[in-house]
Amino acid sequence: MDPGAFCAQARLLIVAGKGGVGKTTVTAALARLAARTGRDALIIDVEGKSGLGNIFGHLEPLTYQEAVLAESGGPDSGEIRARTLTPDDALLEYLVDHGMNRISKRLASSGALDVVATAAPGIKDILVLGKVKQLERASVAGAPGAADLLVLDAPAAGHAFTFLASARALLDAVTVGPIRAQAAEVLEMLSDPGRCQVMLVTLPEETPVNEVVETAFKLEDQAGVHLTPVVVNGLYPVHDLDIDPAVAATAARVPLTEAEVASLRRAATFRMHRQELQTDQTDRLAQALPLSQLHLPFLFTTELGAAEIDLLADALEAEIAKLPDLAPLNLPEDAGAEAGAGAESEAAGAGSGADNPQPAEPG
Ligand SMILES: Nc1ncnc2c1ncn2[C@@H]1O[C@H](COP(=O)(O)OP(=O)(O)O)[C@@H](O)[C@H]1O
Ligand SMILES: [Mg+2]
Repeated sequence: MDPGAFCAQARLLIVAGKGGVGKTTVTAALARLAARTGRDALIIDVEGKSGLGNIFGHLEPLTYQEAVLAESGGPDSGEIRARTLTPDDALLEYLVDHGMNRISKRLASSGALDVVATAAPGIKDILVLGKVKQLERASVAGAPGAADLLVLDAPAAGHAFTFLASARALLDAVTVGPIRAQAAEVLEMLSDPGRCQVMLVTLPEETPVNEVVETAFKLEDQAGVHLTPVVVNGLYPVHDLDIDPAVAATAARVPLTEAEVASLRRAATFRMHRQELQTDQTDRLAQALPLSQLHLPFLFTTELGAAEIDLLADALEAEIAKLPDLAPLNLPEDAGAEAGAGAESEAAGAGSGADNPQPAEPG
C-alpha cells in the first residue's frame, strides 16, 4: 500500500497500547510519515506529559494551543504540529462556547469537574473525544488551518479501553441532554473506519503480546473501533550469527585472544536467543490476532530525536508498502453480495489485510 493511501484511510488515527511500548514514538513516526506524503499532521496529547515536543527538539511544554514541531520541508511536505487536550481545558472551552463564560473559570478552578466525573464516569473522556471530534470535522471540512491528519497519542494501559468505550457507556447511562448527544456523535466517529482507526502498538515479548491481543478483541467487540495493522516496535535487526567467532576471525585474518573469542561467543548466543524469542512472539501474535503487522526496529541510541523518528518513519513506510492495497470502503449495499466470491479469494490471498481485521475467536 502506498503511504499516502495509508494516511488517507481516516482523518483520525489513535495510537494505543500499554505504557512504555512506544506509543509516543510511533505517534511521532506516523506524523512524520504523513508530513512526507504532503499532509499537515496534528498530534494530540491527551495526558500532557508524553515528551513529544522533546523528540522534535521543541523544549517548551505542549499546551492547548497548537505548536509547530517541524516545519514543512517544501511544497510536497506537510508540517507537524502538536497540542494537548486535557479534560479540564476541554470543559472550559465547552462552557465558554455554550455561553457560560462567567462560571466557567470558577467551575474549572474549583475542581467541580472531578465531582462530576465521579458521578458520571466517562464524562472526562467524552469531553476530550468531543473536542477531538470537533477537530476531525474541521479537518474534513478543510477549515482554514485545520490539519489533514490527526494522530492521537492515547492514554496508557487500561485507560485506553475505557477512554474509547466511554461513548458507548455514557449512551447506556444517560438518556437525554447534551452529554448524550455528544456521546452519540463521538460513537459515530469512533465506529466509522472512514473517519477513525486505532493503531495498536506492542513489543515482541510475552506479556505485551498477550495484552495487545486481549485489547484488540475488546476494542473491536466492545468499543466498536476499527483497527489498523498492529505495530510491533523494538525488533532487533536479525543477524546470521551461526558461525563460530574463532572461525570467522581466522577467515578474516583478525587475531583474537581466547578471552575475546569467549565474549564474542557469549554476545552471539545472547543475540541469537533474543532473535529467536522475538520471532516466536511475532509468530504467536500472528496466530492469535489476524491483523497484519508493521515491524519497527529497535534503535540503539540513548535518546530518540528527530533523526531517529525519521528512521522509524522509513521503516513504517517500508512496512506499509508490503501491505495489500485497500478494498474501497463504503461499498453500496448490494455490491457486497456481488463481490462475495471475489472478496473471499482476495482475502485468502492477502492474508490478514488491513481492510479485513475482524479478529477470529481466540484459542
Ligand atoms: N524503536 C525504538 N528503539 C529504541 N528505543 C525506543 C523505540 N521505541 C521507543 N523507544 C524508547 O522507549 C521508551 C518508551 O517509548 P515511548 O514512545 O515514550 O512509549 P509510550 O508512549 O508507549 O509510553 C522511550 O525512552 C523511547 O525513546
Ligand atoms: Mg507516551
